[in-house]
Amino acid sequence: MSSRVLVIGDVVDDLLVRPMTAVTPASDTTAEIRPRPGGSAANVAGWLGALGIDVSFVGRAGHNSASEHVTALHRQGVDARIAVDRERTTGSIVLVLDEHGERTMYVDRAANGSLTARDIPDDVWRDVAVLHLTGYTFFDPATRPVALNAIVNARRRHIAVSVDPSSAAYLREAGAEAFLDWTAGVDVLLPNAVEAELLTGMTDADVAAAQLTATCATAAVKLGGGGAVVRTAEGGELQADAVPADVRDSTGAGDGFAAGWIAAWVRGEDLADRLALGLEVSARAVTVLGGRPH
Ligand SMILES: Nc1ncnc2c1ncn2[C@@H]1O[C@H](COP(=O)(O)OP(=O)(O)OP(=O)(O)O)[C@@H](O)[C@H]1O
Ligand SMILES: [Mg+2]
Repeated sequence: MSSRVLVIGDVVDDLLVRPMTAVTPASDTTAEIRPRPGGSAANVAGWLGALGIDVSFVGRAGHNSASEHVTALHRQGVDARIAVDRERTTGSIVLVLDEHGERTMYVDRAANGSLTARDIPDDVWRDVAVLHLTGYTFFDPATRPVALNAIVNARRRHIAVSVDPSSAAYLREAGAEAFLDWTAGVDVLLPNAVEAELLTGMTDADVAAAQLTATCATAAVKLGGGGAVVRTAEGGELQADAVPADVRDSTGAGDGFAAGWIAAWVRGEDLADRLALGLEVSARAVTVLGGRPH
């Protein structure tokens, strides 16, 4: 089996904001503010590249920072295919961290919203074993056809597909039924606990994971500092604790998990090892500021 991975989706200019004191509404609050390259899909590609996996990333960015994103991804060993949008700027997200490490995100999809199937060069499909997509591409009606067509293309080429629902807020808006319909038949779904509950109505992560295997072969539900649970359509059951980590910034935790899982998968490792590497890489991700490896 080939071991190439294709990731299609968002690339973003993240601005991380960490207030240094209690927030003063309607006035000034001193904060640590750091720009970082981000975007869930680009982060997954970055971690995969850093893990030594042969990976291509396809996305769309504005002329203001497209070349910086290509350079940043190249540095991780990623074959970056970023279409340059002449009208829109690169998507940007302001992430405000609170004292518990929770993040509130203000999202402007900008150029990500004009990604089209034409931005996916034919040659990136060559020898791909796994296609990874994130929820954002499905949730935005403008890019949904890109995600749906990519799944059709992957199926035709016998490429496995993994999907991270990515956003509880957008999932709530779209509805579980629609999302499960868009992703029906994919090989792996990687929701967090809240997303798994939204998708199934089940608060218990094991039960939710089992229920998700009605439409996907494997469901891995991420439980933050509680690790993750896995269920397969064939009745496989796994659970593992998180790898202890000194949490600095949880941005990209889910992306690290996806990358670890996929890396072990394309190397032919079994379910337990995919889970183990997912947990290991996500634990690394929470120790770095921003969503990418250093
Ligand atoms: N405090 C922590 N200590 C160790 N590992 C952690 C911690 N928090 C998260 N992780 C790891 O990151 C994985 C993904 O985290 P989480 O369950 O928050 O998913 P997510 O919500 O998709 O993440 P993201 O916020 O990046 O979208 C967890 O399964 C776990 O392996
Ligand atoms: Mg997530």
